[in-house]
Amino acid sequence: MDESKTPDSASLPRPSSSKPTISKQKSSWPFTFLVTVLVPVVAATLLYQLDSFDPAPLPPDVLTGHVITVPARNDHILRESEFVGVGNLKAPEDVAYDAKSGVIYTGCADGWISRVSVNDSAADSVVGNWVNTGGRPLGIAFGHNNELIVADPQKGLLNVTADGVVELLTDEADGQKFKLIDAVDVAHNGIIYFTDASYKYSLSKSNWEILEGKPNGRLLSYDPATKTTKVLVHNLYFANGVVVSPDQNYV
Ligand SMILES: *[C@@H]1O[C@H](CO)[C@@H](O)[C@H](O)[C@H]1NC(C)=O
Ligand SMILES: *[C@@H]1O[C@H](CO)[C@@H](O)[C@H](O)[C@H]1NC(C)=O
Repeated sequence: MDESKTPDSASLPRPSSSKPTISKQKSSWPFTFLVTVLVPVVAATLLYQLDSFDPAPLPPDVLTGHVITVPARNDHILRESEFVGVGNLKAPEDVAYDAKSGVIYTGCADGWISRVSVNDSAADSVVGNWVNTGGRPLGIAFGHNNELIVADPQKGLLNVTADGVVELLTDEADGQKFKLIDAVDVAHNGIIYFTDASYKYSLSKSNWEILEGKPNGRLLSYDPATKTTKVLVHNLYFANGVVVSPDQNYV
């Protein structure tokens, strides 16, 4: 008795469940249209408007003007040079040399600031990882208190103390975060000068900066005494390097 009831009740939902399936297929027409046509069109339109890529127009004479010839490479230039730390440093960018200890500090692509001791011959130079910023240390220079000042595009302008403690000095100016700070120098009066190649594109997107061809870079300064960050020059094309002159009168 019970067994005969069970197949009955099990077969009962079948016709009732097939009804909503038919009505679902009918009502899925506008839904399919929405998903396959309307949503992609609206999304593409929105994305196009949100995309901030804004390339500079090609200068009119660039295709008709004279061909620029690049001077031939000087093969003699590396003749008296030796390679240091080959295989132990991942894409070292900038160096700071401590004459007292004879140690070269350099920032690597894996986040390490490494110390390189060069002996009589470059072949027995010793490389050691020192401090990892967790970002990409690009520009480095010594401060006046045995610290290293580091321009890290992912972290900001950093103070790496002699004990290896990392402290953020600044990561924005005029309310605009740095995107690609890359070079730094310290003046005798303690003012730190540094460059931001782009306010718009980060390091991983720096190809877009080059393709865009617009002056999105800035020259900045940071004063440790007042903890203020200033924009000194706007509208630079991929600002990527700064040095204070020996007489301290200009950068
Ligand atoms: C210089 O080389 C010697 C012998 O190879 C080694 O013991 C010493 O640690 C090296 N010094 C530095 C500063 O690398
Ligand atoms: C970096 O930190 C050290 C240790 O606190 C300090 O003596 C030094 O003045 C700092 N440098 C800057 C530029 O703030």
